[in-house]
Amino acid sequence: ITGYITLDDGYGNTGSCRSAITYIDGDAGILRYRGIPIEDIAGRSSFVETAWLVIFGELPNVEQRDHFAGLLSESAMIDEVMRKHFNAFPQTAPPMAILSAMINTLSAHDAGVTDIRDDADMERAAAVLISKVRTIAAAAYKASIGEPLVYPRYDLKYAENFLHMMFSVPYRQYEATPEVAAALNLFLMLHADHEQNCSTSTVRMVGSSKANLFASCAAGVCALWGPLHGGANVAAVQMLQQIHDSGMPVDEFVRKVKNKDDGVKLMGFGHRVYKNFDPRSRILKKAVDDVLAQLEKTDPLLDIARELETAALEDDYFVDRKLYPNVDFYSGILLRAIGIPLEMFTVMFAIGRMPGWIANWKEINEDPKGRIYRPRQVYVGPTDVKWRPRDER
Ligand code: SDX
Repeated sequence: ITGYITLDDGYGNTGSCRSAITYIDGDAGILRYRGIPIEDIAGRSSFVETAWLVIFGELPNVEQRDHFAGLLSESAMIDEVMRKHFNAFPQTAPPMAILSAMINTLSAHDAGVTDIRDDADMERAAAVLISKVRTIAAAAYKASIGEPLVYPRYDLKYAENFLHMMFSVPYRQYEATPEVAAALNLFLMLHADHEQNCSTSTVRMVGSSKANLFASCAAGVCALWGPLHGGANVAAVQMLQQIHDSGMPVDEFVRKVKNKDDGVKLMGFGHRVYKNFDPRSRILKKAVDDVLAQLEKTDPLLDIARELETAALEDDYFVDRKLYPNVDFYSGILLRAIGIPLEMFTVMFAIGRMPGWIANWKEINEDPKGRIYRPRQVYVGPTDVKWRPRDER
């Protein structure tokens, strides 16, 4: 790849890696999972099929898909002892803190899948993590609102089962409509992997020391939490809500961003790689329109988002800096439309990104020449400093 500067200290420790999972062309706005354009997958493959594609390299055939769906169903329950942890967290505990803690805890309860020796083990470990992250997330939400945790059902598909665990209450089952389930599948599929972003690189870094899959993905959750990364979907909706509640005209807000008033940013805009449109944002923007129409809902934040996008795309400040809507600009509005609470938005990103983290962990652990990541640095600190006794300091 030309143009990438790879810091190589001559011992194989480099600042970039080789991967066959996801391809991005930031200038052309291209995103492909295992060579398949995201636009071809959207609306045609479910999140579960996409997870298999991302992790194992090809879209599953009927037998593989049924096998994986079966593993996901049988892995949905968390150990009954694990459920007690949720009562130990304060109700105000951030769900991302609970998610990272409980994913790490899985390595204590599901020890059988930390020792991965063959494809069957990998399939089972992937299913355990992708299935249980959903159960843990829903349990964290239920604990935060003081409702009883809901057990997974074996007759529901992935997205429907998650929504059931989130919104069912004793004696009143939540049944997701096909439109809501399809919207959640699309959201999760669009987040499934994204090359060497901050959280995926973190998973590779931790996994390169041969740390187990759960510990590595728990580290990914922590990296994703930041507002410049996965936390941006929450920040983007909070930004839109503030504009709505304050009644501030959009062009006044744009002026504040350009003046960098109090460091305010246009959350959901800009990207380290996409210097053109983020293909996921275009798909999400259309999905939001479709879901709101299907559900016969409107959302004033969507109107503000559209105004902001139009204003920014016509403004040299944003165009010169190659700032376009990224995945987080519309994703929060889609989650609002299907009833996901704001405090769960970044958790939803983590559920969607789990297959990508697993695939990257698998890729480095299957590399026969795999070495521990050991980035080097350019040292800029003081040199040759003398030690002095305390009374001379
Ligand atoms: C994700 O890497 C991935 O693939 C991530 C992700 C994934 O799927 O894993 O795609 C998911 O994290 C998407 C990004 C979500 N984050 C946000 O939406 C937060 C808001 N965006 C920014 O903070 C920022 O755009 C970043 C962090 C995303 C990217 O920053 P860069 O490319 O390092 O840009 P920069 O910080 O060097 O800024 C360059 C200029 C600066 O202005 P000047 O100093 O030149 O005057 O652009 C400005 C910045 O102030 N700028 C913004 C801006 N982002 C950059 N100005 C206003 N609003 C913004 N959002």
